[in-house]
Amino acid sequence: MAAQQALAEKETTVRTEICDRLGIDAPIFAFTHCRDVVVAVSKAGGFGVLGAVGFTPEQLEQELAWIDEHIGSFPYGVDIVIPQKYEGIGETDPKKLEELLQASVPKGHHEFAAKLLADHGVPEAPPEGKLGLLGWTEATARPLLDRAMQHPKVKLIANALGTPPREIIDEIHASGRLVAALCGKVKQAKKHKEAGVDIVIAQGTEGGGHTGEIGSVVLWPQIIDAVAPLPVLAAGGIGSGRAIAAAMAMGAAGVWTGSLWLTVEEAAAQPAEKQSYLDATSEDTVRSRAWTGKPCRMLKNDWTEAWADPKNPQPLGMPLQGLVTADAIRRTHQYAGVAGAQKVAFNAVGQVVGQMNRIEKARDVVTRLLTEYADAVERLQSLSA
Ligand SMILES: Cc1cc2nc3c(=O)[nH]c(=O)nc-3n(C[C@H](O)[C@H](O)[C@H](O)COP(=O)(O)O)c2cc1C
Repeated sequence: MAAQQALAEKETTVRTEICDRLGIDAPIFAFTHCRDVVVAVSKAGGFGVLGAVGFTPEQLEQELAWIDEHIGSFPYGVDIVIPQKYEGIGETDPKKLEELLQASVPKGHHEFAAKLLADHGVPEAPPEGKLGLLGWTEATARPLLDRAMQHPKVKLIANALGTPPREIIDEIHASGRLVAALCGKVKQAKKHKEAGVDIVIAQGTEGGGHTGEIGSVVLWPQIIDAVAPLPVLAAGGIGSGRAIAAAMAMGAAGVWTGSLWLTVEEAAAQPAEKQSYLDATSEDTVRSRAWTGKPCRMLKNDWTEAWADPKNPQPLGMPLQGLVTADAIRRTHQYAGVAGAQKVAFNAVGQVVGQMNRIEKARDVVTRLLTEYADAVERLQSLSA
């Protein structure tokens, strides 16, 4: 396995207790929407986690069946999104919820989004395959969770944007799986612990996707202390093995990464999307509500600028803004290579994008991270020798 080899060559180790609990060699967690990346990372000795939010339950089932078939005996995880607060909370029927929410989206928002796409030459997409309400509510996340729990190699369920409801945590535990939850504040981390979450993921503001305001170097040690002895995974800004060494030095039980996997060879993104990431520097991201309604880090472009302009319609909350942007997500992905499309595309990524300058295989990224980690540890040891 890549992880074992890289560490053995350097005569070092990165094993923490969660490696034993999950049956992995290195506590490097990789969040991704691509099944191939999940398989490659888990097979390399890390832990792949499939983000389920953009799939229907049927699509997720297909992805999980494919992973099961290709991953051998390695474990993996599934990530769902049950926010703490959102419009329409309490409605458990996904269809009714969508109807209720659609009725509260102002027509002007749809028109504004459509005009931005038209102005950038993004073609209309055929009506079939239209995205509806994504898994950003309990009503839509629940069926995804049910599918995930039918797959025995899924050993971890992670939740973004809030503490999972108590009964869901109990259910996941009863099935023999671990529960992880992301957070960007000490207060949220404590709530996760009180609710019975097994692993807290502390994500600093530099991370890709939904993120808070506090930087990783400040956030990680505070959360590690606040929830001890619960294991904490450090997230947000991990782009090298040196960053892993920093996180482990602060007491993290491992690292949770996302951006790094967007440009690997196995990632299913269109070439134009990968190129946008490869070309970007760390100054090119922004935290914006323009796509999902909650602050999310992504590449700055004409879309984020337009929604930030006070003269224009302002982003709605989650999940309403998602209903406004669903068509744009689909069209800019489908026609990613059309001139203008990347200027209005949703390219969620963290500040480590500035370190993502070439396409590598996922397995090689795992090996590189561990080799760099071992070098950093060696350097620290040489300072104290
Ligand atoms: C494209 C993208 C989409 C993401 N979507 C989700 C998500 O659906 N659920 C989730 O828990 N985290 C999501 N995240 C956040 C990651 O899980 C992870 O915490 C973050 O990427 C870590 O910071 P980094 O990007 O600096 O590695 C996403 C991140 C990216 C880059």
